[in-house]
Amino acid sequence: MTPLPRMFRRAGLFALAAVLSLTAAIGLGWWQVDGPGAERAAGKAAAIPSPIGDMSFSMVDHEGAPVGPEDLLGRSSMVFFGFTFCPDVCPTTLADISGWLDDLGSDAERLNVVFISVDPERDTPEAMAEYVAAFHPQIRGWTGSPEDLAQAADAFRVTYKKVSLDDDGYTMDHTASVILFDATGKFRSTIDYHEPREIAVPKIRLALGER
Ligand code: NI
Repeated sequence: MTPLPRMFRRAGLFALAAVLSLTAAIGLGWWQVDGPGAERAAGKAAAIPSPIGDMSFSMVDHEGAPVGPEDLLGRSSMVFFGFTFCPDVCPTTLADISGWLDDLGSDAERLNVVFISVDPERDTPEAMAEYVAAFHPQIRGWTGSPEDLAQAADAFRVTYKKVSLDDDGYTMDHTASVILFDATGKFRSTIDYHEPREIAVPKIRLALGER
């Protein structure tokens, strides 16, 4: 076999490099983090969340009722971590989620939709109630002590971090993916920030056990 001319070999290497970097970008992108440290955190490898049946944590919902992983079994679940002071990504994602739920119509009633606070200091059940009410009646807000949150975030393989702001307030970096589980509590997939509705809604339908 005649060796490829040098120019073609180089072109081949460039093409290979392009494919590899694209693959890496997709791999890192599936687990996006919202906040000032987003670019740094995006380099972290993602782990698959535990099955919900293996999780152990307790929190309270936005009506003050005790909740835990057992409340996510028996129906498919869509879980998202964030905080009510989030300036951008959380409200956008909750608005997206509301749109997906509208698209699903009555099928959405077979889905648990839970927004878990990464900012227990400010997100009381009352604050969560007011916040979720601004989006969709089906979204439940969960919060708890910092220890409760640490356990829940660990189970879902979600990261979060307090970041001080210049004006002496703070914001939170946090994993911004929406996490989908089937009715048995098995992890199915994630929906990334700004993923188009045409992709997001079929993913939810798959988690609901539809084709
Ligand atoms: Ni956020």
